[in-house]
Amino acid sequence: MNKTISKIAVLTSGGDSPGMNAAIRSVVRSCAYHRIDCVGIFRGYQGMIEGDFKEMNARSVNHIINKGGTILKSARSKDFMTKEGRLKAFYQLKNHNVDAFVVIGGDGSFTGAMVFNKEFDFPIIGIPGTIDNDIYGTNFTLGYDTALNTAVEAIDKIRDTASSHNRLFFVEVMGRDVGHIALNVGVGAGAEEILIPEEDLGLDRLLDSLKKSRKSGKTSSIVVVAEGDKTGDNVFELAKYIEEHMPTYEVRVSVLGHMQRGGSPSCFDRVLASRMGVKAIETLLDGKSNYMIGIKDNKMILTPLDMAIKGETEIDAELIQVSDIMTT
Ligand code: F6P
Repeated sequence: MNKTISKIAVLTSGGDSPGMNAAIRSVVRSCAYHRIDCVGIFRGYQGMIEGDFKEMNARSVNHIINKGGTILKSARSKDFMTKEGRLKAFYQLKNHNVDAFVVIGGDGSFTGAMVFNKEFDFPIIGIPGTIDNDIYGTNFTLGYDTALNTAVEAIDKIRDTASSHNRLFFVEVMGRDVGHIALNVGVGAGAEEILIPEEDLGLDRLLDSLKKSRKSGKTSSIVVVAEGDKTGDNVFELAKYIEEHMPTYEVRVSVLGHMQRGGSPSCFDRVLASRMGVKAIETLLDGKSNYMIGIKDNKMILTPLDMAIKGETEIDAELIQVSDIMTT
């Protein structure tokens, strides 16, 4: 890529996550530092198609580092999945003299960016913003650390009422098709059982394990269930099955849901976002495109976007071993 970059756009796309605002702030201030103009695009690719742009400068991003959500809003755009929609987006970018864009989002957002780049040879850089931590090429995605802490605090509260009433709680956490949130939150909250899509230990094993816990004197238990887990049809069916087979146990269900997507980002996520934004702008100014910014062993790295999209993350086998031992 040998074009001069004098104006960069930034947008957020897909499910929001805590830390997105910190990343927007870093991109905008990095542009200001390098004397590059910056424009914010509202509502993801849909706003790009509709020309929902706003010039931004270092002061536009005051006091947002600690705010959850995204000041640029986010959306999933069906129009951007069409060539016609992407062409409109391209003309909007050209009309606003935009030379490159940074998209903060998940693999779906990166896929759209890749298609766009192939069609228009338009420079793009991706920053992984999703609570799921399911993107290849980085140890951490933006929002994951905050979501873990939000979920652990919620489960600590559920533990209070579970132990007061000698109840068994099934707590469903987010994570789409992977179990990173469930596994880490389960260990962190001291859950008696953790069900993740990467393991299929079956209903009988779960029932036996809960019966053993009961026999060993546990009067209440917490089972953390990843939303993508396939042990039962869903967390409510799972709870019903256990209640039918352990009639002496009162069973309740709590689905944490979208609270895991909100809240003020943790310091870790704010620092990660700040580092990723700086690296994204440096990468574009180095004449590079089609990369995702990631962190590995605390170093900023670049992963080709098509690898980030196609690659898969692995569940932490050592942490599964830890959770097995902790539930003795
Ligand atoms: O990808 C982030 C995520 O929160 C997933 O964990 C969850 O399954 C999904 O988004 C929910 O999507 P929506 O915001 O469209 O309900």
